[in-house]
Amino acid sequence: MQLTDKFGRKISYLRLAVTDRCNLRCQYCMPAAGINIVDRQELLTYKEMYRITRVLSELGVNKVRLTGGEPFVRKDFINFLESLSFNDQLDEINITTNGALISNHIEKLEALKIKSVNLSIDSLHKEKFAQITRRDVFENVFETFQKLAQSNLNLKLNVVVQSGFNTNEIIDFVELSKDKNIAVRFIEEMPFNGKGQRQMNEEWNYTKIINHIQKHYSEVIPVQSKKSSTSKNFKIPTYKGTFGIIPAFTRTICNDCNRIRITATGMFKNCLFDGGVFNVRDFIRKGASDNDLKELFIKTVHHKPENGFIAEAARGNDVSESMSTIGG
Ligand code: GTP
Ligand code: 5AD
Ligand code: SF4
Repeated sequence: MQLTDKFGRKISYLRLAVTDRCNLRCQYCMPAAGINIVDRQELLTYKEMYRITRVLSELGVNKVRLTGGEPFVRKDFINFLESLSFNDQLDEINITTNGALISNHIEKLEALKIKSVNLSIDSLHKEKFAQITRRDVFENVFETFQKLAQSNLNLKLNVVVQSGFNTNEIIDFVELSKDKNIAVRFIEEMPFNGKGQRQMNEEWNYTKIINHIQKHYSEVIPVQSKKSSTSKNFKIPTYKGTFGIIPAFTRTICNDCNRIRITATGMFKNCLFDGGVFNVRDFIRKGASDNDLKELFIKTVHHKPENGFIAEAARGNDVSESMSTIGG
């Protein structure tokens, strides 16, 4: 059995948020005061998350990304990773993190079945970093970056391109790929900051970002990626690593989308831009069997919206959630 939608897209990638909490307060993600976090009993338990993942893996999901909030904020997250790594149907267990809490866990992550870590880092300057994240953790995150780059985990850097804040650092970020075998990815900013509006003077979309980089280098070559990749990837010929751009807001990647999401409170999302389809947690707590879950997943995925614009239009309210509650 395989999850497939009515456009023939195979769903094989689950993005699972383990918490809505975060230790940082990034401007593009939430207001300075933070978001209203939910009570503990509203969160999926690890046992529930393990079961959901197992059931989905029996339906063809072979890649899971753990997100948050910040996943390492949740107690016993490492133990959860350990239990997930016993699921042989998963080819990849990956993590998206802000890195501020993980420097002591890197060896453990290497020992587990973790394939890659995507690290958010939006500035290479301490003051700017503090301005964006509203926390003073640059040194800590940068040290984690260096440790990860030397580890045997695949490393991707996520840089949200913020007009007027870090656009003057785009080339410095590309330069990080010169000596390190990493993937630097520039992300178009989306309105998921708890206010529903992007705070930009000038829109830095995919085209503007790639033009900016191409102007700087004599040669930029495309790098072949998986069809379902969120990023279009490139390389400077002599550089060890690559760079890429994620058209998260212009949404030109939807035709090949292979993703579903489950938020920390169990909301099932067919698309980053939809408002949530049903709550898996409630369904489980009412006694759903594995087969009940499978039937519902199959039926729900069948109706995955064609693209993020259609998903957004169908939700009927504006997109004013924080990325921390959606799970990235
Ligand atoms: P890989 O599996 O390593 O390719 O990572 P990823 O890009 O799937 O995940 P990551 O958590 O690193 O997300 C990077 C950015 O891409 C975040 O801003 C996400 O919100 C955005 N993103 C991830 N998946 C989607 C998607 O399906 N649609 C859109 N529009 N954006 C996405
Ligand atoms: N727009 C684009 N990307 C965002 N992220 C968080 N909020 C936004 C936003 N409003 C990114 C984080 C992290 C990933 C999960 O999503 O930087 O790398
Ligand atoms: Fe998939 Fe929606 Fe993202 Fe498009 S916007 S790639 S449909 S999750």
